[in-house]
Amino acid sequence: MKDIARQAMSIKVESMDMLNGQIKMEANASATYLAMASWCEQNGFFTSAKFFFKQSEEEREHMMKIFNFLIDVGGSPLSPEVTNINHDYSSIVDVFEHTLDHEIAVTKSIHQIVMKARELGDLTTERFLDWFVLEQVEEENTIRDILDMISVTGTEGVGLQLIDDHVGNWIN
Ligand code: FEO
Repeated sequence: MKDIARQAMSIKVESMDMLNGQIKMEANASATYLAMASWCEQNGFFTSAKFFFKQSEEEREHMMKIFNFLIDVGGSPLSPEVTNINHDYSSIVDVFEHTLDHEIAVTKSIHQIVMKARELGDLTTERFLDWFVLEQVEEENTIRDILDMISVTGTEGVGLQLIDDHVGNWIN
């Protein structure tokens, strides 16, 4: 039955397997940003906490976009298991640096799926991922801008409070 379903899909099996991996990655990002929101709340960075609550929701939306795409093409999306979420950060700078690392890893992963879809001649998957490629440009840019703001503001004296206030500029 499963094999029949896989044959009836309008995308390649390899693409589906990679997209299921991406579902897991987006779920991991959502859970990671929720943990970061918790860290920010506990350490008095309340605006940054709002930023990460929103990021967490957006990552879940990304996950669901892929999930629903797999349903639309007759595939089998898998509900991901998410474990080992880090809750320990040494500073607000550490939080945003980890965020950038995370987003760069997501970008690389999306690009790998696009390249594989291209190699397979899977135009449906390639086109579907256009949105994600551009979304990653925006997400990386946001975090780089925040890290630039942090380095200009500095973390001495009232700097930390100013950093938290300024993060509000990146909450839509
Ligand atoms: Fe959905 Fe920020 O990667």
